[in-house]
Amino acid sequence: MIEVTHPDSAQPAAPSVEPEGTLILGERSLSLVLDGRECRFHYVWLRDNSWAAADRVFLSSERKLFTPTIPATIAPAKAAFDPHEGLKVLWNDGQQCRYLPEWLRRHDYSEAPRDARRHAVTLWGETGIDVPRFAHADVVNTPEGQLAYLDAVIEYGAAIVSGVPSVDHEVERFAETIGHVREVAFERVHNVRHDPTGYNVAHTPGELKPHTDLPSYNWPPSIQLLHFLTNQTTGGESTLVDGWTALAELRRQAPAHFETLCRVPVPYQLFSQDEDTWAENPMIQLDTDGNVKVFRFSNQLAQPLSIPFDQVEMFYDAYRHLGTIIDSGRHRATFKSEDGDLITVHSHRVLHGRLPYDPASGARHLQDVYMEFDDFLARRRVLRGEHMPLAAQKPEETQEAP
Ligand SMILES: [Fe+2]
Repeated sequence: MIEVTHPDSAQPAAPSVEPEGTLILGERSLSLVLDGRECRFHYVWLRDNSWAAADRVFLSSERKLFTPTIPATIAPAKAAFDPHEGLKVLWNDGQQCRYLPEWLRRHDYSEAPRDARRHAVTLWGETGIDVPRFAHADVVNTPEGQLAYLDAVIEYGAAIVSGVPSVDHEVERFAETIGHVREVAFERVHNVRHDPTGYNVAHTPGELKPHTDLPSYNWPPSIQLLHFLTNQTTGGESTLVDGWTALAELRRQAPAHFETLCRVPVPYQLFSQDEDTWAENPMIQLDTDGNVKVFRFSNQLAQPLSIPFDQVEMFYDAYRHLGTIIDSGRHRATFKSEDGDLITVHSHRVLHGRLPYDPASGARHLQDVYMEFDDFLARRRVLRGEHMPLAAQKPEETQEAP
């Protein structure tokens, strides 16, 4: 062990010139050199993440230690670090803990590893993308095929599965090979075909401008699957727009418009004879890093604004700007969906729509269901073998002295 320098400073950790295995104890945190890099950990964070038998149920990884009982003065009474054996600490509350090197690597919260752990997202270009396409048999029958499909939806926000049997409710069976159908107030499997008596604009043959479904929920469905049982009409091409790219353009061109749409609540409603959904939220919701997390865009379902008088025109200016970008044809994929095609969209990101069609020219029938993006992330973790937690400490070592 090497004596104290200053690991508590706010400077970012950097490639270290200290020898591998160096351990430096500061007042409130320590630093250690692992894989040639300086990694820093706060004492309270390490104590909280103890895997000692008294602190955690080993099999389920559930925490028994009640975090608020950790005193602000927690610090090592003794500590040692070896790059192969890990970090051993006797805490000043008497608990002995070990933190294995592979666990320290996985949970290192320095800036670079945190960046690397974020989900890779590729925004579409000006001309849109060729939506990644996968064969149904590969996605439902092989882990590799399913993983490739999940990767595409997570990275690009959209994918097409072709060769899906044109069988009633096949889209529901497909969803259940990935995760779970998200129930909504209307049909579990929603039919879209020409129907003059239908309850929404999807049942007309007119253009359906790009939109996201059900912003009338406080948490709109985050995945939508659209399965074309048949599509023999003239026209009716599918349109997908990367909403996150459109928002990046808006943010570059007019930050004030972007900010307005992050702030102004917009009410949306979708109802039927017996059911109702209604929710009021800003169109843009950001994550804690300031990136877009949820995008709601449905011109057809928007209800009268109820906001302070002096904000109304500000909102319409921002909405006009955004709508112009979305309707510009940029960042858009336009394609004819064939019989047996199943479109998947990450519907907090990618908008879907359709060009007008002639209902007399042939049959057009699709069925859609909703899911949650969490199911896609979870299924990918399971297929990659990443879902089981990595223990910081082996159970038989919990009583070992550092
Ligand atoms: Fe829709």
